[in-house]
Amino acid sequence: MSDQSKYHQQKQQWETDVEKTSKRFPERKDDFVTSSEISIDRLYTPEEASSGTYEDKLGFPGQYPYTRGIQPTMYRSRYWTMRQYAGFGSAEETNKRFRYLLEQGQTGLSVAFDLPTQIGYDSDDPMAEGEVGKVGVAIDSLKDMEQLFDQIPLDKVSTSMTINAPASILLCMYIAVGEKQGVPMEKLTGTIQNDILKEYIARGTYIYPPKPSMRLITNIFGYCQTNVPKFNTISISGYHIREAGSTAVQEVAFTIANGMAYVDAAIESGLEVDQFAPRLAFFFNAHNQFFEEVAKFRAARRIWAKIMKEHYQAENPKSWKLRFHTQTGGSTLTAQQPDNNIVRVTLQALAAVMGGTQSLHTNSRDEALALPTEDSARIALRTQQIIANESGVADTIDPLGGSYYVESLTDKIEEEVNDYLERIEKLGGAVQAVEDGYMQREIHQSAYEAQKRIESGEEIIVGMNEFRIEEEINPDLLRVDEALEAQQIEQTKNIRESRNQQLVDNCLDNLKEAARQEKENLMPYILEAVKAYATVGEIANVLREEFGEYTGM
Ligand code: 3HC
Repeated sequence: MSDQSKYHQQKQQWETDVEKTSKRFPERKDDFVTSSEISIDRLYTPEEASSGTYEDKLGFPGQYPYTRGIQPTMYRSRYWTMRQYAGFGSAEETNKRFRYLLEQGQTGLSVAFDLPTQIGYDSDDPMAEGEVGKVGVAIDSLKDMEQLFDQIPLDKVSTSMTINAPASILLCMYIAVGEKQGVPMEKLTGTIQNDILKEYIARGTYIYPPKPSMRLITNIFGYCQTNVPKFNTISISGYHIREAGSTAVQEVAFTIANGMAYVDAAIESGLEVDQFAPRLAFFFNAHNQFFEEVAKFRAARRIWAKIMKEHYQAENPKSWKLRFHTQTGGSTLTAQQPDNNIVRVTLQALAAVMGGTQSLHTNSRDEALALPTEDSARIALRTQQIIANESGVADTIDPLGGSYYVESLTDKIEEEVNDYLERIEKLGGAVQAVEDGYMQREIHQSAYEAQKRIESGEEIIVGMNEFRIEEEINPDLLRVDEALEAQQIEQTKNIRESRNQQLVDNCLDNLKEAARQEKENLMPYILEAVKAYATVGEIANVLREEFGEYTGM
């Protein structure tokens, strides 16, 4: 009997067995689907596996199209960066948490700024009242930034900064702190999020209209490629799009569409694609549905590699590599039975690692309730360290590669993402699609359907809509000291009184002038202003006067 007929005979026998056993144990659901409504077959065999040849579809790690990873040896040489997002209260308090996490073995820093900083207001601005130091660290002037990195050598650690509209101001402050530490800007490593489109779509911390915002973003590209060449100039984020309720396919599609918009804007501003593209980075969510998440990351690498090589004709392989950070899904955390979140985060972190992430933040068990306590933040870091050092999953590259299911799902996600990219292209690209509210509508629809599945009980969230217990909300949550706001305001007042005001005024006037010259790169002007201890709010307000404020889609 030929192999083929043996295969088909076995398959037939299996289908008979399925029918028989289903009589006594019917399957749990009529149809099984992923978050992206991709139907999940009962079984995957060579028939359903990836179409196309190994060399076209998968290739080798560190080689185009990077499906299996962007480095030839991946984690066998270097684990992903364990980079915990942290920041609350004053610069001193956050500096203490940074140093604690570094002592506990984290290998990269990630700054969470408070909302006033993120939206370009000083702590003493009426708009900041009640928010100073709440969801991140309060940064008004260079003095705060110096305190934030006290005893942390900037030539020894890479720092991510989650800042978007005022990204140029905080990056200039980071450069100035480096100089004060004797670290020249060309040695600085890290990432500035600098992704305004997802702010319009999902996160909301925008200030200026799209056009000037894109100018500020590409100014950072241009300035850094010359002066801060080891710094990643943008972290094109899907994380928040997913947190807003998108599916995995939408997360990748809208993020890559935004990425293309940034590449287009940079090229239009006169930059060469192979000059700036190697320093573009990405940021994705690691959500539930383990295999869909792994397939999502693998598909994203292959899609981006093809777009950069074929659509943009980039020639430098570093331009083709999709390098990304992952954060486990904040929106999957439950306030109920917080310890259950340790298990969720572990599975999500495992998916990120099996998907080849370059950097990872693991959420803390109590983050559905408050910012993490030190204990919770340590357990979150230990989760990564156990996956890295005890599970063995980092000891070979892309271990799920070749799985009939994962390869089939990777292909399917790639296909559906490309369908979205075509639709967005027809709408005039991401900026237009965002202004039309297209992505927002797609996300809201997905979020609504997902919520319906939870409320109907079709989707079980353990501890929340099933397996509940009577419980008290965990008493020892982290509380930000209410007195902080007044202290921060006092410190900024003292800075204003002790600085050379004439110098500050001159710097702000020069910035205003430069902002009026569309082709001028504003980074040098902002750098001079922060060195004179001009504040985030003062600089952001000069640009508000010149660019206006965006009042929303
Ligand atoms: N073989 C050879 N070289 C290797 C290697 C290997 N196996 N592994 C790493 N390397 C090299 C890399 O090539 C790199 O060198 P290069 O810069 O000269 O190319 C160096 O070692 C460092 O490695 P990575 O660049 O891979 O790791 P990093 O951690 O430095 O960078 C990143 C990762 C994704 C590129 C970067 O953009 C990053 O760190 N992003 C983090 C973003 C972040 O933390 N965001 C948090 C946002 S929080 C938020 O927004 C959510 C809130 O709103 C709720």
